[in-house]
Formats: sequence, structure tokens, C-alpha cells
Amino acid sequence: MSFNNLDTLYRQVIMDHYKNPRNKGVLEDGSLTINMNNPTCGDRIQLTMKVEDGTVTDAKFEGEGCSISMSSASMMTQAIKGRNIEDALKLSKIFSDMMQGKDYDDSIDLGDIEALQGVAKFPARIKCATLAWKAMEKGINEQE
Ligand code: FES
Repeated sequence: MSFNNLDTLYRQVIMDHYKNPRNKGVLEDGSLTINMNNPTCGDRIQLTMKVEDGTVTDAKFEGEGCSISMSSASMMTQAIKGRNIEDALKLSKIFSDMMQGKDYDDSIDLGDIEALQGVAKFPARIKCATLAWKAMEKGINEQE
């Protein structure tokens, strides 16, 4: 696939998550609630997560933000559900490396998350993409 076609595909994946967000809402029985702002724009996310026996069994998000932040939140909740917390944190590190344009561990299938790799070329948008991931990390670290 050419770079242009790949770019178009990635854009479509991002817009699909923005328009049809996965895991939108609030977990009433969530054991963790994390609120986080993007300091550069004031946009916000609320993440609720349920962690049982070291595994993220459910996650939902609410918030207001740009297409990058909301699609990233949708992808993140999709990616961490069913994973143990070590793997969820590992995914977050991989995503952070990807956003910094570093080589990243590709031993885990990243699925839709790869569609966000182009954000690394736009430093002003990196905080948008990492907002939900930082919320997830904060929740897990606070719980431990
Ligand atoms: Fe606010 Fe992207 S512009 S989160």
C-alpha cells in the first residue's frame, strides 16, 4: 500500500472512532474514576475503569475534545479491556514511544492504535493523543 493510501486509511480509522466511539459512557460500578485535562486547550476526559484480580475488565470514557483526543480514548479503552495491568502499562509505553517518534516495541498487535502514529509529526497534537493514556496510567498507578 502506498503512503498516501495508508494515510487515507489511518484517517478513516481515526474518524470512525471519533464518530462512533467505543466504550463511551460512565461505568457506574467502576472501581476507578480519573479526570484529566489537556492543559494546552482545557479539553477534558473522565475515564472509569474496573480492575479485578489485576486485569482491566471494563473501561469507559466521557469527555470533550478534538477528534484526535476522543478517537485515541476510544482506541485506548478498546485496547486495554481484558488485559492485565502490566500489559496495559506496556501498551501505554509503546504509545508514548510512538508519539515521540521513537522505535517502539511491536511485539503486541496494536490494531487501530497504529492509525495515530502520524500524530508524532505534529507536536502540538501529541498531548491530545496521550490524554486518555495518561488518565489510564494515573488510575492504575494510584490503585497500586
Ligand atoms: Fe483539546 Fe485536542 S485540542 S484535546
